[in-house]
Amino acid sequence: MQSGDSGSVLPLLRGALLRFIPAVTLCEVPDSSAGSDLSLRVHGEDGSGDPSGGPVAELQTFVNTHGTVPRTIRVADGPLLAVGSTLSGPAERSGEPLINSLGGREDVVKGRVAVVTGGAQGFGEQIVRELVGHGARVFIADLNLDGAAALSSELNALHGAVTRGVAVDVSSEASVSAMFAEVTRLAGGVDLLVSNAGVLKAGSVKELSSADFEFVTRVNYTGFFLCTKHCAQHMAEQNRFAPAERSTDIVQINSKSGLSGSNRNGAYAGSKFGSLGLVQSFALELVGDRIKVNAICPGNFFDGPLWSDPDRGLFVQYLHAGKVPGATSVADVKAHYEAQVPMGRGCRGEDVVHALLYVVEQPYETGQAVPVTGGQIMLS
Ligand SMILES: NC(=O)c1ccc[n+]([C@@H]2O[C@H](COP(=O)([O-])OP(=O)(O)OC[C@H]3O[C@@H](n4cnc5c(N)ncnc54)[C@H](O)[C@@H]3O)[C@@H](O)[C@H]2O)c1
Repeated sequence: MQSGDSGSVLPLLRGALLRFIPAVTLCEVPDSSAGSDLSLRVHGEDGSGDPSGGPVAELQTFVNTHGTVPRTIRVADGPLLAVGSTLSGPAERSGEPLINSLGGREDVVKGRVAVVTGGAQGFGEQIVRELVGHGARVFIADLNLDGAAALSSELNALHGAVTRGVAVDVSSEASVSAMFAEVTRLAGGVDLLVSNAGVLKAGSVKELSSADFEFVTRVNYTGFFLCTKHCAQHMAEQNRFAPAERSTDIVQINSKSGLSGSNRNGAYAGSKFGSLGLVQSFALELVGDRIKVNAICPGNFFDGPLWSDPDRGLFVQYLHAGKVPGATSVADVKAHYEAQVPMGRGCRGEDVVHALLYVVEQPYETGQAVPVTGGQIMLS
């Protein structure tokens, strides 16, 4: 690691800070001639082999002397960093106590830094809202930056500086890499990636264009690979010095179509089945970095825009296509699909978040696919 390589040193330092304070963000701030609470003589390589040396030892000495973590840290020959607890940038001192404990399920993501791709609408929006409600700091990463920024403004007005919209196209490696670099600059690292952005182009295998097939594959399958690749690099650095009992999580929002074939929807189902192969493989590799990798497989989100959009939603499309015999209204089509779910309703954002909190809380599981389908899919 080079001196001043803040892209790597921020997660590493945040990991060290997590030993003293469970909910912490670490933000690069404009350089100034002002001094800092703590000037690190060493970082990175100096402590990499032996966490008792380097930045952990220097932080420990500071905490022992002052009874608190520093408000600002100057990295040797590098950036000035603000230690905080929100995404507001330059620092207010975190009010969190100097303990590192996990409480009940409601505390599972409290103070954790999360990235939700495709967070501007649909399941992603629901997940963002629920994570914020559970005390997480959430980056809303979406192709639709205006939508992400609008959701962020709404939530920040209610809760303080706890979210931020960031632009990303998950199908572009340059874009994904830049997004995680920005997140790291603004928060110091990341504890939870919810890889949710996904697209659907249905169609018969006899007619689907290869362009549509590749578009779906590129976003749903390759996009998950790219997000995991760039997120895992930052997480691995962070986890090197983080407390041993603390792991980080990558969770893909998959689908029931990743567990059972989907008629005339092969591109989508294939991208989801394939992603479970990635989940299992990445889980095996990243367990050594204390990164768990799991998938959640929701059933149909009938109340979301994909199904319920009044102009382009699937219910309207299926009504006009006569796909449901005898249906004369959107309500008839919806009732037809709800009847296929043993629990009689579609999946909701809060159902997905129940599963999300479970896989994050569960320290002893990785590489799993958790169905959330109201009984429509049962694992054998
Ligand atoms: N809607 C359902 O019934 C359903 C069911 C099971 C699983 N899922 C899965 O849940 C996830 C979300 O689905 P949804 O229905 O809420 O979607 P949606 O279409 O309502 O929202 C998707 C979001 O992802 C963003 N996005 C699209 N392409 C992107 C890209 N290349 N880079 C970054 N952002 C991008 C969009 O701007 C949008 O904000 C998907 O992975 C989907 O496969 C959905």
